[in-house]
Amino acid sequence: MDAYAGLFRLDGRKAVVVGAGSGIGRESALALAAHGATVVCADRDPAAAEESASMGPGLAVYALDVLDGEAVARAAEELGPVDVLVFTAATNVRKSLLDYTAEEFERVVALNLRASFDLVRAFGRGMAERGTGSIIGFSSIRAVAVEPGQGVYAATKAGLVQLLRTAAAELGPSGVRVNAIAPGVVETPLTAQIRAVPEWSDAYADKSALGRWSRAEELAGAVVYLASDASSFVTGSQLFVDGGWTAIDGRYTPPS
Ligand SMILES: NC(=O)c1ccc[n+]([C@@H]2O[C@H](COP(=O)([O-])OP(=O)(O)OC[C@H]3O[C@@H](n4cnc5c(N)ncnc54)[C@H](O)[C@@H]3O)[C@@H](O)[C@H]2O)c1
Repeated sequence: MDAYAGLFRLDGRKAVVVGAGSGIGRESALALAAHGATVVCADRDPAAAEESASMGPGLAVYALDVLDGEAVARAAEELGPVDVLVFTAATNVRKSLLDYTAEEFERVVALNLRASFDLVRAFGRGMAERGTGSIIGFSSIRAVAVEPGQGVYAATKAGLVQLLRTAAAELGPSGVRVNAIAPGVVETPLTAQIRAVPEWSDAYADKSALGRWSRAEELAGAVVYLASDASSFVTGSQLFVDGGWTAIDGRYTPPS
């Protein structure tokens, strides 16, 4: 019985959260620290990371732009042995495929996919050498369900899932677990554009079984779970935290 009381504890573990300056990354960092981990809040916006780090004990700051591949490799060296890597940094340009420019495509792919690739490789190598680690990336409901205007974002999120599954396959024999979390719609700066349009915002709320948006802190439990020994046999998975969005069709509720 007693062993289960500490199932989600992360005492003595070191976590790096990339994107910790805002939204889901910030709440992930705070939750990991609350469960005993020492947490590095990494972000390209050091002031935002500083604000996150000031919200609790056990949190430090590291300035990192993941678009700089060399800086990612340097971070993995400078930060020393890391037990948990969480990365949330991503961007979206909401436009139809026919209107997308090549530059916009490159920008979304560079952050959502290329930087994830660099992070997994940079931190996964040391984890594999040490024989332990948990890597957690953020996909999206858009990895499996699309709507007009989400094409490139959706492609990067589906691509990320396959990248993480492959990392799970390749690093699993070395004791490293790799998983994705797929949020539904979450109130963060990333979705401010949507929430500014009541019709759009309400339609998204209605689409989930719970009839509302989620708050960023509602993703924190999934992060702690996947970081901790509570998920010691979970790898290569995609955990949906979407309020039921992907479970239901939602176009019409037939009369009962
Ligand atoms: N918010 C949602 O509704 C939602 C839904 C599904 C999936 N997601 C996914 O969850 C993740 C987190 O989303 P969020 O809403 O918390 O985002 P957010 O925009 O609130 O936070 C992203 C953070 O990443 C940082 N960042 C951006 N570019 C960076 C770079 N080059 N280097 C380092 N840091 C950088 C930003 O400074 C910011 O602190 C993303 O992968 C997103 O695609 C979000």
